[in-house]
Amino acid sequence: MNFLYLLILLAISALIVRHLHRFSRSCSSLDQSMSLTPIMNHALIRLNSAPSALLLLFCCNTLWAGDWSPEGEPGTTNNYTRASNQGGIINTRHNLTYSYITGYANAMTPYQNKYGEVCVYCHTPHGAANNIKAPLWNRTVNPTSAYNTYEGYRLNGPVDVPGPASLACLSCHDGTLPVDSVMNMPGSNGYSRAQQGSVNTSFLDTWNNPDSTTNMGFGTPCGDSPCFHASMGAEGNGSVQSGKCMRCHQDGNNYGIPAFSGYIIGTDLRNDHPVGVAYPDPPETFDFRPGMAALSNGSTYFDDDNDGHMDSNEVRLYDVGGGPMVECASCHDPHGVPSAGAGSEMAPSFLRFTNEESAMCYACHVK
Ligand code: HEC
Ligand code: HEC
Ligand code: HEC
Ligand code: HEC
Ligand code: HEC
Repeated sequence: MNFLYLLILLAISALIVRHLHRFSRSCSSLDQSMSLTPIMNHALIRLNSAPSALLLLFCCNTLWAGDWSPEGEPGTTNNYTRASNQGGIINTRHNLTYSYITGYANAMTPYQNKYGEVCVYCHTPHGAANNIKAPLWNRTVNPTSAYNTYEGYRLNGPVDVPGPASLACLSCHDGTLPVDSVMNMPGSNGYSRAQQGSVNTSFLDTWNNPDSTTNMGFGTPCGDSPCFHASMGAEGNGSVQSGKCMRCHQDGNNYGIPAFSGYIIGTDLRNDHPVGVAYPDPPETFDFRPGMAALSNGSTYFDDDNDGHMDSNEVRLYDVGGGPMVECASCHDPHGVPSAGAGSEMAPSFLRFTNEESAMCYACHVK
């Protein structure tokens, strides 16, 4: 009986060795500057003893097989995610604590601080940024001068710089700023006002991440802080970018995880739906839908259900002094919006409602 068990164990170990070899090859071709192979060799040597083999079997199984079963075609689309997209932001892709990842949960700690809270990557209850009129904003933002604005084909008015409800999104989605670059870390220490306008990696390094050293061959062991405070990376660039999220989340990656290239808007906004653009007035004259409701605080929105509230599934405009403007959050809600009432699956792509049959476009354009 024991002998049979040992045989099975040996066979499994051999399989793991082959698997690890394949993995280490794909890793070293991924990024030459990260020497992963020595770490993997070390792991292979340790495989000689049966208890470690069992241990590794557990680890490998959770990381590389059963535990990770995203929908969609691995490596070919951006569509698949472990997030259930139900209930709230915690179950969406915008949960950057990746707390729904079980098994090898610290795989990414060398690349970004793991704050263990969902909201903190964007908001802080106290000491929020005063350089941007976004709600209790906790992130470093780029100045408006960092962006090229949409030029337009035959627009009715000029396109202004991106407003706060766009700059907030672009602080991750332009691909240049570290995803973990906040002013106020969780807990009572770790606050830097200067972070609102510029990134200080030594400040970010003060966060104590668990297990950055033991990252199972993901990059160089690097003490208790991450080696990198990675940004998402460059727009449309599927190639390997050391130190950026795209290093692993690239198109066609071998990890079976979402590719970020489709999510990186870049700093050149000339190829994106205009933001910082006024809604033409009077709308009907310019083929735009009339009848936006206005609240006394200046918010304008389509009150589709006539309840006098600006609901999350209603398209809205943002006014911070220059008149009501279309911004990223006019069409998207970064917290996700249930597509059919509380508890239902969120509308895809953080849209305020699904764009099936171009419903989102018809919300404003009469075409
Ligand atoms: C990925 C970034 C991000 C995360 C994470 C995030 N938010 Fe937000 N939140 C925003 C942005 C951007 C806005 C402003 C845009 C808008 O009007 O919706 C906002 C607006 C808000 C608002 C005011 C407008 C509204 O829709 O009510 C509240 C309240 C809010 N967030 C609460 C939260 C809470 C609570 C959490 C955590 C459970 C959270 N947010 C997580 C980005 C984020
Ligand atoms: C703190 C960084 C951060 C901020 C701020 C942020 N995002 Fe994201 N967003 C991400 C990351 C990272 C992903 C990819 C996550 C994944 O694939 O698991 C993502 C994914 C998305 C996606 C793709 C979702 C899908 O299912 O296709 C959309 C759309 C999106 N974000 C829109 C926005 C908008 C709009 C805002 C502002 C209102 C915003 N994001 C603010 C980090 C951020
Ligand atoms: C060293 C490779 C690597 C790097 C670099 C990396 N990730 Fe990941 N990421 C992974 C792996 C592997 C998983 C799946 C983890 C698991 O199942 O244990 C993952 C999963 C995720 C998820 C959950 C995806 C989903 O929608 O289900 C998010 C969000 C995420 N990563 C964000 C980031 C961000 C933001 C960065 C850059 C700051 C980053 N990652 C950098 C390897 C990496
Ligand atoms: C006029 C409405 C509108 C505005 C404004 C807008 N988006 Fe989108 N966005 C959409 C729609 C609709 C989709 C879904 C496209 C699809 O289904 O392929 C989308 C998709 C996305 C995606 C996911 C891409 C993908 O392939 O799934 C990201 C990321 C994103 N938007 C971010 C932003 C950011 C950041 C801004 C502001 C700079 C912004 N959006 C402004 C309507 C808008
Ligand atoms: C929140 C309202 C709103 C939504 C939703 C919206 N748009 Fe727009 N769109 C505008 C405004 C405002 C302009 C600038 C109009 C102007 O100045 O003439 C614009 C401009 C455009 C332009 C540029 C026209 C030019 O001459 O360069 C195109 C194309 C466009 N929208 C297509 C779309 C599509 C496709 C969708 C759906 C994915 C969409 N819009 C959703 C408000 C919206």
